[in-house]
Amino acid sequence: MESLPITEWLQSELKQGRFPARMPAHRRVYEAIRRGIVSHHLNAGTRLPSTRRLADELRLSRNTLLAAFEQLHDEGYVVSQTGSGTRVANTFPEEFSERKNEKNASIPVPHSEPTTLSIRGKNAAGETEQPSYEVQPFAPGEDDFSAFPTQLWRRLLNRQWRAPQPAHLDYGHSGGFLPLRSAIANYLRMSRAVNLTVEQVLITSGTQQSIDLCARLLSDEGDIAWVENPCYWGARRILEVNGLKLHPVSVDAEGLSPSIEDFRCPPRLIYTTPSHQYPKGVVMSYGRRRLLLDYASTNGSWILEDDYDSEFRFEGHPLSSLQGMDQHDRVLYLGTFSKVMYPGIKLGYLVVPPNLTESFKRGLYQLQRPGQVVIQAALAEFIEEGHFASHIRRLRQIYGERRRLLQESLSSVTSVGANLPLAGSGLHLMVGLPPDCNDVRVTELAAEQGLRVYPLSCYGIGENREKGLIIGYAYAATERITPNGRKLAEVIQAALSY
Ligand SMILES: Cc1ncc(COP(=O)(O)O)c(C=O)c1O
Repeated sequence: MESLPITEWLQSELKQGRFPARMPAHRRVYEAIRRGIVSHHLNAGTRLPSTRRLADELRLSRNTLLAAFEQLHDEGYVVSQTGSGTRVANTFPEEFSERKNEKNASIPVPHSEPTTLSIRGKNAAGETEQPSYEVQPFAPGEDDFSAFPTQLWRRLLNRQWRAPQPAHLDYGHSGGFLPLRSAIANYLRMSRAVNLTVEQVLITSGTQQSIDLCARLLSDEGDIAWVENPCYWGARRILEVNGLKLHPVSVDAEGLSPSIEDFRCPPRLIYTTPSHQYPKGVVMSYGRRRLLLDYASTNGSWILEDDYDSEFRFEGHPLSSLQGMDQHDRVLYLGTFSKVMYPGIKLGYLVVPPNLTESFKRGLYQLQRPGQVVIQAALAEFIEEGHFASHIRRLRQIYGERRRLLQESLSSVTSVGANLPLAGSGLHLMVGLPPDCNDVRVTELAAEQGLRVYPLSCYGIGENREKGLIIGYAYAATERITPNGRKLAEVIQAALSY
């Protein structure tokens, strides 16, 4: 292309005004030429007019043209050689240049979603039968998070932002903010009988990330993972996505209940919720805990103890952790702030055995690049100043009352063969239904009445799934629990009376 046509083309590009109003002149010239190169209007090797000449012909200052050319040069769109001026660079690999010259060459169009996703991607994001249900309030639209001390939290965050230390704005390099790790270590020692030093605590962005980290660092594709049956969908999904072969182990009234056949399949990982099985709600007995720990140490398995909601035990003392009974460093203990603070805080912790501490710190940094140090610092103060303990006490009262009201309003369902648990802990309640009942249908009937409950069978794996309803009450407004609970009891009674 001769210099005159380039100038004319550039003039018309600049006049067409397809630039934001406040864009400076040098940026417009740069952008017009860049677009010309990307769209192949200006081919590789094309010589551009000198900046002096363009400045004259476009009636722009020479500095404007120099700035535009400098930017194009820095980004590799043009090259300058003494004696031959400025030319459009060859920015595309050979095969693209050849394809470009083919008559019907077209830029490849991305595939539509189903064929684009990898097998791992389909497991993670595709539609599978695994439910991805959060246990939300059983009456949609009546969510109540008012128990969270918003003003206090704002004050603590503001305190951090008033004069943030540089390290608080950086990535979290060392496994998490040390005072938070230390506050968590103290809390776990006292209230969960976890056996640990602060070094063993890592801050993660929640349980989901903790499980992911354990799966990536402790297992390989094709390794076996025991999961509870029924099982928390989030854990199941992460383990599957990491290429583990899931081996479901049934759960009875004493928690995880491995059979002789199960023992013949020694796993690399064992995922379990001993303090409050999710979703059935049972507590693992002392005998089962001993059995599991002995089996894990004999077979070199790692136990992932997900202690997601044990703060909410409404009667009696909190239960001790499985980790606290472990003599052979086989347990990784997983906790979360999703339940005590609010789900969107996305902060949790992972307690790893002493010999894994350094590798996990490195793995966490290299795989996740953690951050949110300001929030971690505010949370450390929240715990250290005693707000965490008083907040838990308050939540126990509120959630305990909500649970009691729900149990009361559902009490009639036992007359038609449903099983209503009496003891209380956690944030959800499971009503057991007879084996021949279609629990999916019952949830549909409940939905027709504006109620959201989940079928237990969707958390099950394989044949002969247990039937029941999972009912989230913790975030449901207290005054709405009784009327909604009664409505649900009517749905259950009607469904079971046929
Ligand atoms: C069994 C179980 N573990 C852990 C969590 C919390 O996960 P996260 O910390 O990733 O929010 C949940 C949330 O619903 C859960 O049900």
